[in-house]
Amino acid sequence: MKANDLMKIGNTELTHGLFLAPMAGVTDRSFRRVCRRLGAEYTVSEMVSAKAVCYEMLSKKKVIESKTAPLAAVMRDELPMAVQIFGSEPEFMARAATLIESGEYRGCTSEATPSAIDINMGCPVHKIVGNGEGSALMKNPALVGKIIEAVCSAVKIPVTVKIRAGWDSESINAAEIAHIAEESGASAITVHARTRSSMYEPGILPYVITDVKKRVKIPVIGNGDIFSAADALSMFSTTGCDGVMIGRGALGYPWLFEEICAALEDRSFTPPSFEERINTALAQVRDMIKLKGERIGVAEAKKHLAWYIKNINGAASARHEIMNSSSYSEMEKTATSLLSK
Ligand SMILES: Cc1cc2nc3c(=O)[nH]c(=O)nc-3n(C[C@H](O)[C@H](O)[C@H](O)COP(=O)(O)O)c2cc1C
Repeated sequence: MKANDLMKIGNTELTHGLFLAPMAGVTDRSFRRVCRRLGAEYTVSEMVSAKAVCYEMLSKKKVIESKTAPLAAVMRDELPMAVQIFGSEPEFMARAATLIESGEYRGCTSEATPSAIDINMGCPVHKIVGNGEGSALMKNPALVGKIIEAVCSAVKIPVTVKIRAGWDSESINAAEIAHIAEESGASAITVHARTRSSMYEPGILPYVITDVKKRVKIPVIGNGDIFSAADALSMFSTTGCDGVMIGRGALGYPWLFEEICAALEDRSFTPPSFEERINTALAQVRDMIKLKGERIGVAEAKKHLAWYIKNINGAASARHEIMNSSSYSEMEKTATSLLSK
């Protein structure tokens, strides 16, 4: 079970420490809102390129063309929420953090200051690590310190850091990086307990989170392979972490947060009916369309709807139809038809 019931990041207090993981292309505002409503206490934006933020300020392009600005926008109703940045140059990271905190970032329609700036030191994607960004930073502890110090000096809001266990099994250094992060001013650290070389292979290394927890005083958020309330309870009890972060387990099943919350409070949990799942999914699709327009909204919503209908009778053929739909009404027809099967 969880040892301590309250965790703090700066002035933000969280009862259970239930975080929605940042997932590029997935955790947009619509999905974050659903997760918040269903028990996620804190969310993180999709990752935002620090360089793109800085360069867009210099560009003569029309604001409307920015793909990055909407990712960094924070609405009042979704606080507490962090904006995650990635990059490898301390000056760009600090400048981007300042622009995001102040709301000066051109084209960004933020209504509110983010609760924190989160620094991505865990992304395993080739394009990112090839530039020395994301999890590649874990190979360079001195640079890690410089980046965190630069960002912490640039903003007033808390700075948090998301890392992996290490680069590969020969170089597991999460505890060392966490110590550097704390010394450099970070307010919390998330540990995705896999190495970069293991990418998303099943099986995490919980002992790495335990080691990080022993090494630092700032809150530690455990992440990796939480697909059930039992997984979350086990993450808390085996590692002693202060919070848990959930990524793939929430895809199509944002009720996982409610389920974990119920387990932590020793309450019973009733899983959502098929109807509730479909209604929640369609409401999310409508919100995506409202925010992004029908063409982009429909295109980006397909995967979400396919995740929501998983395991419902007739899902396989419905998924095929959803992937081929070009309008909301087609998606709605396919999804609601599942209820009469
Ligand atoms: C589609 C996808 C996109 C992701 N994008 C990001 C990202 O933008 N920033 C980040 O720090 N981690 C990102 N991650 C990693 C997750 O935040 C999380 O650390 C990882 O999925 C492990 O947690 P899980 O086992 O609960 O999914 C992404 C993961 C997935 C599956």
